[in-house]
Amino acid sequence: DPLKRVAIVGSGNWGSTIAKIVGNNIEKFNTFENEVRMYVYEEVVDGRKLTEIINQEHENVKYLPGHKFSPNVVAYPDVVEAVKDADILLFILPHQFVERTCLAIKSHVKSTAFAVSFSKGFYVGKDKHVDLLSSVISRSLEIPCYVLMGANIATEVAAGTFCEATVGSRNYEHGQLVKGLIQTDEFRIVIKPDTEVIEVLGALKNIVAVAAGFSDGLGYGDNTKAAVIRLGLKEMVKFCEEFFPGHHPQIFLESCGVADLVTTCYGGRNRKVAAAFVKTGKDIRTLEEEMLNGQKLQGPDAAAEVQEWLKEKGQANKFPLFAAVHDICERRMDPKALIDALRYHPEFW
Ligand code: NAD
Ligand code: 13P
Repeated sequence: DPLKRVAIVGSGNWGSTIAKIVGNNIEKFNTFENEVRMYVYEEVVDGRKLTEIINQEHENVKYLPGHKFSPNVVAYPDVVEAVKDADILLFILPHQFVERTCLAIKSHVKSTAFAVSFSKGFYVGKDKHVDLLSSVISRSLEIPCYVLMGANIATEVAAGTFCEATVGSRNYEHGQLVKGLIQTDEFRIVIKPDTEVIEVLGALKNIVAVAAGFSDGLGYGDNTKAAVIRLGLKEMVKFCEEFFPGHHPQIFLESCGVADLVTTCYGGRNRKVAAAFVKTGKDIRTLEEEMLNGQKLQGPDAAAEVQEWLKEKGQANKFPLFAAVHDICERRMDPKALIDALRYHPEFW
C-alpha cells in the first residue's frame, strides 16, 4: 500500500500542540509519509512570516512558544497545497473558521481521505440552521469526519503532563489510525462510537466555562463554581438526551464529558476572559484581543449558536444557564443575575 499522508489544518495553540505530537509519533510508523503538512494562516510576527519562522526554527513562536516541532512538520500558507495529497486531515481551527476553510479546499481533497475535527463549537448557516462542525466538514468535502475531544488545555498537553482524550468514531480502522497518530505515554486515547454527543459536549462545556468565569469574576467561591459546573452538566446531558438520543449514558464520564468540563472551568481561556469581563466591564471581543495574543474564544459564540439551535427547536426556555451566559455576554443581563438562573433552575422546582 502507498504511504498515508497526514495534513493538519490549523496551527493555533491546540493545532500546534497536535502537530508536535503527530510529527514525533509518525516517525514510529512505516505506514505514513514522514512529512506532515500544517496549514498556517499567514501573518507577520516580528517582521517575519510565521510560516518561515516555523520552517526555519521549528517552533510556532506566536501560538505555542517554547516547544519545538520535529523537522518533518512543514508549514504551508496555502491551505490547498497543505491538504491536496492528504489521506488524513486533522481539522484544528477555531470553530469560526471551519466552514470558510472547507470551501477553500472543496474539490482539492482526495475522495478516499477522511477527516477528524478537534474544533469545539457549532456552525450556524445563513438561514440560521445550526449544525455540527463535523457535518459541515463531511458534507462539504464529501469524506467521513470523526472527532477528538477531551480535557486538554493545550499548553499542558504540549508540556507532556499526563492527560487523556476521547475519539469519536464508528469506523474501527479509521479510529485505530487516529489513535496511533495521536496517542503517547502521556496522552491516552479512548475510542467511543457516540461521535455526535462527544462533539456536542466539547462545544457546550465552553458555555459552562464562561459561567464559571463570571462566578470567579464576581468573587464567589468554589461551592458556587461547583454548582455552576453541576447545573451546567445537567444542561449538557439534557441537550444530548433531547437532540441526540440513543447514545451510551456512560459517555458523560469519558474525558470529553466531565473531565473537559472541569479543566475548562478552572484552567481555560473562556473562564479567564469571562472573569475579566466581570471585573473590568470591557466587552468580550476587546478582552479577547487584549488577553489572548491572537488566540480565539469559543464559548461566547457557542452560547449564541446554542440559542439559535434552541429557538429552531422551540426549546429556548429549557436551558436557563446557557441562556444566561448568552444574555450576559450580550450585555442584556447583569452578570450577578447568573445566580438567579441557578437559584430558579428547573432542578429545584
Ligand atoms: P487558537 O485559539 O490558538 O486560534 C488562533 C488560530 O486561528 C491561529 O492559528 C490563527 O492563525 C488562526 N486564525 C486567525 N484568523 C484566521 C482565519 N481567518 N482563518 C483561519 N485561521 C485563522 O486556536 P486553537 O487553540 O488551536 O483552537 C482550535 C480549536 O481547538 C478550537 O475550536 C478550540 O476550542 C479547540 N481546542 C483548543 C484547546 C486549547 O487548549 N487551546 C484544547 C482543546 C480544543
Ligand atoms: P479554552 O478554549 O477555554 O481554553 O478551553 C480549552 C479546552 O478545550 C480544554 O479541553
